[in-house]
Amino acid sequence: MKTRCLSLRRKQFLPSLLSLLGVCGLLLVCVKYSYITESLVPAVLHSPMFHKYNINCSAIYDLDPVEVGKSLILRREEVVEDLDGSLTNLTSNCPSFIKFRGYEDVCATKEEENFPLAYSLVVHKSAWMVERLIRALYSPSNVYCIHYDQKSSASFIAAMEGLARCLPNVFIASTRESVFYASISRLKADLNCLSDLLESEVKWRYVINLCGQDFPLKSNMELVSELKSLKGANMLETSRPTEIKKQRFTFHHELRDASFEYQKLPVRTEKVKTPPPHGIQVFSGNAYFVLSHEFVAHMNSSAVVKDFLVWSEDTYSPDEHFWATLVRLPGIPGEVPLSQPDITDLMSKTRLVKWQYLEEALYPMCTGSHVRSVCIFGAAEMRWLLNYGHWFANKFDPKVDPILIQCLEEKLEEKQRLLQAQVSPACRRGA
Ligand SMILES: *[C@@H]1O[C@H](CO)[C@@H](O)[C@H](O)[C@H]1NC(C)=O
Ligand SMILES: *[C@@H]1O[C@H](CO)[C@@H](O)[C@H](O)[C@H]1NC(C)=O
Ligand SMILES: *[C@@H]1O[C@H](CO)[C@@H](O)[C@H](O)[C@H]1NC(C)=O
Repeated sequence: MKTRCLSLRRKQFLPSLLSLLGVCGLLLVCVKYSYITESLVPAVLHSPMFHKYNINCSAIYDLDPVEVGKSLILRREEVVEDLDGSLTNLTSNCPSFIKFRGYEDVCATKEEENFPLAYSLVVHKSAWMVERLIRALYSPSNVYCIHYDQKSSASFIAAMEGLARCLPNVFIASTRESVFYASISRLKADLNCLSDLLESEVKWRYVINLCGQDFPLKSNMELVSELKSLKGANMLETSRPTEIKKQRFTFHHELRDASFEYQKLPVRTEKVKTPPPHGIQVFSGNAYFVLSHEFVAHMNSSAVVKDFLVWSEDTYSPDEHFWATLVRLPGIPGEVPLSQPDITDLMSKTRLVKWQYLEEALYPMCTGSHVRSVCIFGAAEMRWLLNYGHWFANKFDPKVDPILIQCLEEKLEEKQRLLQAQVSPACRRGA
């Protein structure tokens, strides 16, 4: 099973293109002579998968100029949009979905089984990217909560429901928000997943939150090993806020209608807020966290945390101070002492983000494109991404560079198999 899966994945595009052409030719003949069988048609006409590009990922990793050049041409001329509907179609038949996407071949070693991870995925579009994110991180020992936006399209929601129906350890958040940028709803989406995850029968050790434009840089085996070495600590950014950042939570904000892109946005008013409850000192960070089970369980039952959440309702982007502040609360599991220096985003391994204004000073140029000063990575950054040491990165977009995502998938799968092969007893399958 496993070797067959491997050989399938390694199969080059050209032979499969040729065989596809062969099938097409055969189909024409079939149509002409009316030999056509009902079941053959949809399988061939509607490709059940996302688009795969003909590229040598080892050469991309090695920064081979010819292959990188080829990826630039491919991304300019051949970007194919993968439709949510095709994932819904594929998941309408779970056994074939599981087979096509190789979930049945994913196995978990003892190390992985003894250290389950949980994921909170807050997503709103691009169903295939959500599936590929789950597939890249998939282990039968883990558990995955999907929070889709109440405003998401019907086709996206159907695809997410399909994923949850087909995969036993993937579920949809029981309460879902209409998520507006920089508002409390973004934070509540994660909280909804966290509270469901606490009820899960999977005894997960750490929870990681992800959004649709994130992608892992480490395989599950590597994540398990990295998280084990945290020894109960949490991993997230927590810094003293600048004076400008402080305005985000010293003034009352109101959610107001905004441009088409955001629909609604919290707007600052002149009204000064009361100080945080319980004398809490506010720290700032980002929306990404890696939290221990103990931390989340404690948080769920803490009245102080509940009060702080209520106080945060009318701030700007509360997710960017909520976690950073909680992890500094004296007595919280995995606490970062108040006196400890800032943990910046480059120190916290949760997310590698390239800011346009720090490019060249702190890291190489973005080879994809920018959105709101954040780099959407390109294929020429693959090596830098994988070797930086962070666990996840943001942002990825198949419309900007589909090659990078495909190559990361290949590399992660390779790393996972290699590491699994090094441990004994061998891997046990169990999706
Ligand atoms: C891909 O590129 C590497 C060099 O980076 C080379 O060793 C390998 O043979 C290439 N594979 C194929 C199938 O062309
Ligand atoms: C899904 O399946 C239906 C029925 O077979 C087909 O008409 C439709 O084009 C498919 N959608 C996609 C996006 O593949
Ligand atoms: C989390 O908090 C909710 C509401 O306070 C409570 O009903 C639930 O039992 C808590 N879950 C756990 C696992 O403690």
